[in-house]
Amino acid sequence: MAKVKGNLGNDFCPQSLFLYGTKKDDESPDFGLFCWFSYATIEINKELRMGVMACIGEEKLTKDLIRKNGVFSANLVTEKLLPLADYYGCTSGRDNPDKMKYCPTIEGGQVLDVPTIAESPVSFELRVVKEIHAAEGSDIFLCEICNVMIEEKLKDKSLSFMERLKLAAPVITAGETTHTSLDGRELGRWSQPMKSLES
Ligand SMILES: Cc1cc2nc3c(=O)[nH]c(=O)nc-3n(C[C@H](O)[C@H](O)[C@H](O)COP(=O)(O)O)c2cc1C
Repeated sequence: MAKVKGNLGNDFCPQSLFLYGTKKDDESPDFGLFCWFSYATIEINKELRMGVMACIGEEKLTKDLIRKNGVFSANLVTEKLLPLADYYGCTSGRDNPDKMKYCPTIEGGQVLDVPTIAESPVSFELRVVKEIHAAEGSDIFLCEICNVMIEEKLKDKSLSFMERLKLAAPVITAGETTHTSLDGRELGRWSQPMKSLES
């Protein structure tokens, strides 16, 4: 099939959603929703390790707290968590001091002093090793993965990896500001799922 010129943008680059957890000055948690999250090989004490890269645009509370604390958690968003995740993605922590009025079950990290989400099946504990200033308001954080907590059933090797991935039921954003399930169901446009929290 012939190709035609496309628009500049990141449609057709499916990304899993993660909630980044940080601690505020009073030790209470803040969560923000992020999708520009992927893997990168990093070097720690001259050893090559698998790390992550997290691109954070614009100044926001999550970025303030990551810079201040040097650590944060990244919690995989599931279909069940989507209304809360969507709310965290559409509500500024800087402008809404009561943002955390809707709150999941918080568990402290096992290795780092970070809030993690019990209802999320996969939680990373991350330590920033380098911040790269990419452009005005756009910064990339390269991080060491210090710990990963994963639901036991997702480690059950009697199931194929795809079966386990389906059990996790991650939400992706594939394009056009829409939340999507792994098997292609539309789960609402950004800022829609959060409406169910108010009812
Ligand atoms: C689906 C979705 C994905 C998002 N991904 C990112 C991202 O990768 N990087 C970013 O800087 N902001 C992203 N955001 C916006 C942040 O979630 C938003 O700025 C939020 O207010 C951050 O929380 P905070 O204000 O408590 O720091 C995304 C929002 C949505 C709805």
